[in-house]
Amino acid sequence: MRLDKYISGCGYASRKEVKKLVRLGAVTVDGEIAKKPDTDVPEDAEVRVNGEKLCYREFVYLMLNKPAGCVSAVFDKKYPVVTDFVGEEYRHFGVYPVGRLDIDTEGLLILTNDGQFAHEMTSPKKNVYKRYFAVLDKPMEESDIEAFAKGMEFKDFTAKSAKLEITENPREVYIEIAEGKFHQVKRMCERVGKTVTYLKRVAIGGLELDETLEKGEIRELTDEELRKI
Ligand code: URA
Repeated sequence: MRLDKYISGCGYASRKEVKKLVRLGAVTVDGEIAKKPDTDVPEDAEVRVNGEKLCYREFVYLMLNKPAGCVSAVFDKKYPVVTDFVGEEYRHFGVYPVGRLDIDTEGLLILTNDGQFAHEMTSPKKNVYKRYFAVLDKPMEESDIEAFAKGMEFKDFTAKSAKLEITENPREVYIEIAEGKFHQVKRMCERVGKTVTYLKRVAIGGLELDETLEKGEIRELTDEELRKI
């Protein structure tokens, strides 16, 4: 890989800035001062800028606590998009959201540039459960638990068995679904006669929303979180 691509891929500097750094003799590859920004470097090379060791990676995985009012896209004509929250240091990775949350839904959203990962997380065949906290206009009843567990037929898809947990306040529930079809949680609640007035995703598989993240705050997943998911 070209040295300038390697360094910009680390989020350290733009390709233009790399040129300048190389000219200043600030870049070393395996201990040797680099002479040209287009030098070929192996991926396992030790590259340092001003003595600081860089760590090249192809993929990045970010957790966003999505606020209401933005759409799960990288571009929209009308509304802010979730990638607006991505900081400067991650911009060059070209991340996009894994699956979608409605504009009024809050909570856990992963952004990545790893297409294979995104596919596996969203494929209904992989059965990755998504857990939501929902507030309803009316209380859920015990009989609704069975309706969710049986799965539901809609004209465009069949929702697999879902788990409904009613909290002490029966207008507040947790729902776990295996797919992520358009308005799925809201439609499943409508089927049992309740309207969702607030919705937040709290977990995807074994990965829980970091509740210390403010709405609109974003951070990288830790290695442990990546293993969990
Ligand atoms: N189900 C919904 O209805 N909306 C979401 O945003 C996610 C799941």
